[in-house]
Amino acid sequence: MFNLKYYIDKALKEHFALGAMNFNNMETLQGIMQACVNTKSPAIISVSEGALSYMGEDFAVGLAKICKEKYPYLFLHLDHGKSFEVCKKAVDLGFDSVMIDGSSLPYEENIALTKKVCEYAHKFDILVEGELGQIKGIEDNVSSVNQHYTDPYKAKEFVERTGVDTLAIAIGTSHGAYKYSGEQTLRFDILEEIEKLLPNFPLVLHGASTVDESLVSTINTYGGDISRAVGIPKELLQKAVREHNVIKINTDTDIRLAMTSQVRQVLMQNPKEFDPRKYLKPGREKITEIITDKINNIFFSNNKI
Ligand code: G3H
Ligand code: 13P
Ligand code: ZN
Repeated sequence: MFNLKYYIDKALKEHFALGAMNFNNMETLQGIMQACVNTKSPAIISVSEGALSYMGEDFAVGLAKICKEKYPYLFLHLDHGKSFEVCKKAVDLGFDSVMIDGSSLPYEENIALTKKVCEYAHKFDILVEGELGQIKGIEDNVSSVNQHYTDPYKAKEFVERTGVDTLAIAIGTSHGAYKYSGEQTLRFDILEEIEKLLPNFPLVLHGASTVDESLVSTINTYGGDISRAVGIPKELLQKAVREHNVIKINTDTDIRLAMTSQVRQVLMQNPKEFDPRKYLKPGREKITEIITDKINNIFFSNNKI
C-alpha cells in the first residue's frame, strides 16, 4: 500500500494536488470520502485542534480509521498544530502527517519549534508541514497588501534548517469566507522565486476555498447574511497546481458553506421539519458535489490512486 509520501512525490511529478479537506463531524467526512471514491482520488483529511476538541480525539481518529479501512487513499493530518505537545499527540495517535504552525512566532522560534516537531515525527516516518509567512485569519477581511508574504530566501533556509517535508507559504490566500476586498490575485512572482531557491520542493496553499457564488446565494436566500463573501478564483488555483509545485490545497470554508446552504434551505422550506437526517443528508451530498468538482477541475487528482 502506498503512503502519503508516495502521493506527494507523485503529485509533484505529475502536477496535481492533494485536496486537504477539514472535517468536524461524520457527515462532513462521509461527504468528502464519497467524492474521493467516485473520482478515484487520493486526499488528505484534516483535523484542526478545534475539530479535535469538538469531536474528541477518539471520535476523530475512529471516524478517520473507518474511512481508511474502506478507502485507504485518505491520509489523516493535523491542521495548524500550535505546539510540540499537540503534534506529538497526533503522531502518537497514528496520524499520517502533522502541521506545526509556528508562523506567528519570531523566525528563529518558528525554526526551533518546527525542527523539534520534525525530529520527533520523523522517528516514526510521520511527515511534517511547516509554515512561513502569515496567511491571514478567519473573516479578517484583509486585502492581500496586508499579508505577510513568505520571504523566498527565508523559505529556503527554513526548509534546510528544520527538515520539514512540505511548506505552507503565504502568497495571497487567506482563511475564511472574506478573502479579498480588492483585486483577486495571487503573488505568482513570489511563488516562482521560492521554486527557484527550492526546486522540486512540495508546497502547500492554505486558505484556498473558492467561495462559490451559488453557495453564497443559497445561504443568503434562506436567511443567511454573508453577502460580501469572496474566495480564490478557480483559475489561479489551477495555475498553481498545473504550473507550479503546489501539491496540497487546504479547503474548509467551502465545505462549511456547502453544508450550511443545504441546512438553511431545508429548514426554511420545511419549517415543521426537525429530523436532522432530513437536512444533514442534503448537506453531505452537497459536500460530495463540490469536492468532486474540485478534484476534477482544481486538484486534478482524479484517477491518481
Ligand atoms: O485553517 C483553519 C481551518 O479552517 C480550521 O478551522 O480551527 O475553526 O477548525 P478551525
Ligand atoms: P479556507 O478557509 O479557505 O477553506 O482554508 C482552510 C485552511 O487553510 C485549513 O487549514
Ligand atoms: Zn489553514
